[in-house]
Amino acid sequence: MERHITLGEFIIENQKDFPYAKGELSALLSSIRLAGKVVNQQINKAGLAEILGKAGKENVQGESQAKLDVMANDVFVDTLRNRGEICGLASEELEDFLVFDDEIHKKAKYVVLIDPLDGSSNIDANITVGTIFSIYRRVSKEGSPATLEDFLQPGTKQVAAGYLIYGTSTILVYTTGKGVNGFTFDPGIGSFFLSHPAIIFPPKGITYSINEGNYVHFPDGIKKYIKWVQQFDEKENRPFTSRYTGSLVADFHRNMLFGGIFLYPEGTTAPKGKLRLLYEGNPMAFLAEQAGGKATDGFNRIMEIEPEELHQRVPFICGSKEMVEKAEEFL
Ligand code: AHG
Ligand code: MN
Ligand code: MN
Ligand code: MN
Repeated sequence: MERHITLGEFIIENQKDFPYAKGELSALLSSIRLAGKVVNQQINKAGLAEILGKAGKENVQGESQAKLDVMANDVFVDTLRNRGEICGLASEELEDFLVFDDEIHKKAKYVVLIDPLDGSSNIDANITVGTIFSIYRRVSKEGSPATLEDFLQPGTKQVAAGYLIYGTSTILVYTTGKGVNGFTFDPGIGSFFLSHPAIIFPPKGITYSINEGNYVHFPDGIKKYIKWVQQFDEKENRPFTSRYTGSLVADFHRNMLFGGIFLYPEGTTAPKGKLRLLYEGNPMAFLAEQAGGKATDGFNRIMEIEPEELHQRVPFICGSKEMVEKAEEFL
């Protein structure tokens, strides 16, 4: 690997893209990088540190929390609170958003929304997990405490978004609206290095990712689309290949690098699907679009949906542009 540009250098170098920014966004991205390093280190030794297994509580999503869900949430909350760049934070693991309302934080311009540990059902099996983050400029007045409106903004208002993928290597991928770049962590040195510059979502691919066990619950259009991807067509490389990990970050990352489509549609048991608009849908949609891909709920652009509540769910179809458009034809 060529170790030319560190994430820290890249963040500073690109600060000039924001002529009015005074460096707060750069500092915030650096805080996320730090929290990511801590979570990475914990996950790496999870089997030795007795932090596998369930925490014994349910989160607001009605899911049983893993110990690492709680740990990753605490690391991000504490790391971001210890610095002065955000006035509030919302998390998949917390029922309400947090307001950081001492003098330094009240003056901050940004709020963060996180999925601290994505794919947490996979942790105990040593399968790839991730962290997803989304950053907005507050709409409430600087100097006052953060309000719900700061968090309920459509995805088009994101100023940055990204994820960490804790896989065969740990990679941080992010966008500030000027393309998508990925940085691989070198654990020996303790730094992230630019390894995936200007990522492009291939316009099409041959991989589809969906939990097909839910087939019976899917809308007719999705059922027909699945039959279509499985049909033989030599010219179009069908049937496609099925790849589904149960970690959105992992499925998204693979599809973005090699081409593919991810679908988590609505079903009768999950009327709006499972994925959360604010912690999963919007950040992944922002990354997808910035790389030339597409994200929709089947009918609307994900990033244009007006959020009504923090933990709102959304049907999510995301991936290579031509593949997403093909799926939409069936709906
Ligand atoms: P989380 O672990 O943050 O709750 O997210 C899990 C999500 C997502 O990562 C994955 O794509 C999907 O849930 C898997 O759901 P199913 O097990 O229903 O397929
Ligand atoms: Mn969860
Ligand atoms: Mn998730
Ligand atoms: Mn999660």
